[in-house]
Amino acid sequence: MSTGFSIAPSCALEFGPGAVSRLSALVDGLGADSAFVVTDAGLRGTGIVDRVLGGLAADGLRTGVFDGIGPNPSTTVVDAGAVALRRFGPCVVIGLGGGSVLDAAKGIALLATHPDAHATDPLWDSPVDGLPLVAVPTTAGTGAETNGFGVVEDTCARRKIYLGHPSVRPRVAVLDPELTLGLPAAITAATGFDALVHGVESLASRGANPVSDAAAAQAVALVGRWLPVAVDDGTDLDARSQLLLGAHLAGQALTVSGLGLVHGIAHAVTAHLGTPHGIALAAVNEQVMRYSADAAAAPYERVRRALDGAAPPAGPAPAIDTVTALAEGIGVRRTLRELGAARDLLPVLAAAAVADPVTANAPRPPSEADVRDILDAAW
Ligand SMILES: NC(=O)c1ccc[n+]([C@@H]2O[C@H](COP(=O)([O-])OP(=O)(O)OC[C@H]3O[C@@H](n4cnc5c(N)ncnc54)[C@H](O)[C@@H]3O)[C@@H](O)[C@H]2O)c1
Ligand SMILES: [Fe+2]
Repeated sequence: MSTGFSIAPSCALEFGPGAVSRLSALVDGLGADSAFVVTDAGLRGTGIVDRVLGGLAADGLRTGVFDGIGPNPSTTVVDAGAVALRRFGPCVVIGLGGGSVLDAAKGIALLATHPDAHATDPLWDSPVDGLPLVAVPTTAGTGAETNGFGVVEDTCARRKIYLGHPSVRPRVAVLDPELTLGLPAAITAATGFDALVHGVESLASRGANPVSDAAAAQAVALVGRWLPVAVDDGTDLDARSQLLLGAHLAGQALTVSGLGLVHGIAHAVTAHLGTPHGIALAAVNEQVMRYSADAAAAPYERVRRALDGAAPPAGPAPAIDTVTALAEGIGVRRTLRELGAARDLLPVLAAAAVADPVTANAPRPPSEADVRDILDAAW
């Protein structure tokens, strides 16, 4: 290939059932005797958080916790978490939860060392590092453990904004599939579909290269094979393991390549309607893939091969049909109308989707009118 590229190393990886028991040693390895867990109240209700906190304390670490993160975290909650962390003092920050928690934890770890800043301030180029972060994902979806940026909602502006810094890319990702065994089927489906879209959009992205392609193709194969199994039987540890690895690889891929228009639209849908990320993606994925089909014919052929290598190549249609059937099968497909979108919201969503930086990597650059047509078809 003729163009060069640079790739920053991703996080170290600890994978396997029970891997979370190695957390204290990992904190110790980062030179700290204190750990501050950032998590959400829903997860706390499952008992996972208190088990992890108990394990850290039993190993002699000073522990603190902020469990105020909810789905689609806001800049306000990130600011509140940073205040709590500054009060706790120097430590390793442990993000324990889904993508919402991991994204918020990045902002909190960064703001901890920037006492005069807020989550709405751009700190990408700050000379001051955030506190070290360890990520423990409890959903198999976002792959947020692979990168140093987060997507949070600016409640005042009603839009998703990006925050982050190279220093808050997790030092270690602890992938313990046992933590995902209790994830309800509907959340397994929505978060897993996010991972599948990451793989597909990464393959089709303008930022793709052979490194991201390798991770994305394997991610699509793993998630396509194991997501329906995990939705069907959440206690299947093998399916949970493969899905968690697939989602992680999809995160590696998107961190290198960027994503595309499905994410651009979904961010706007969630900012306006509060829709869970994976459900917002599923509402428009088929329409965006059809819109992109000619420009993304070769990447969609890779998607087809990853999902169903035995089927003969026949243009982009089989990949689109297979992904759509999978979304249908796991129950994540809704129309925008079913998600509560009034028709006069569609132009607002179209403008926001075109302005979202993630859309810049779409294989076929969309105009606002193009996105309005896509939204009409998805309504
Ligand atoms: N940084 C990135 O690379 C990146 C990529 C994609 C998406 N995101 C962001 O991630 C967020 C979505 O994250 P998500 O899809 O993981 O969902 P989430 O973190 O919002 O979690 C969804 C729900 O699942 C519950 N939950 C989590 N783990 C559980 C478990 N093990 N058992 C029972 N319940 C559990 C949570 O309490 C929550 O109610 C969005 O804000 C999205 O923008 C970030
Ligand atoms: Fe996503």
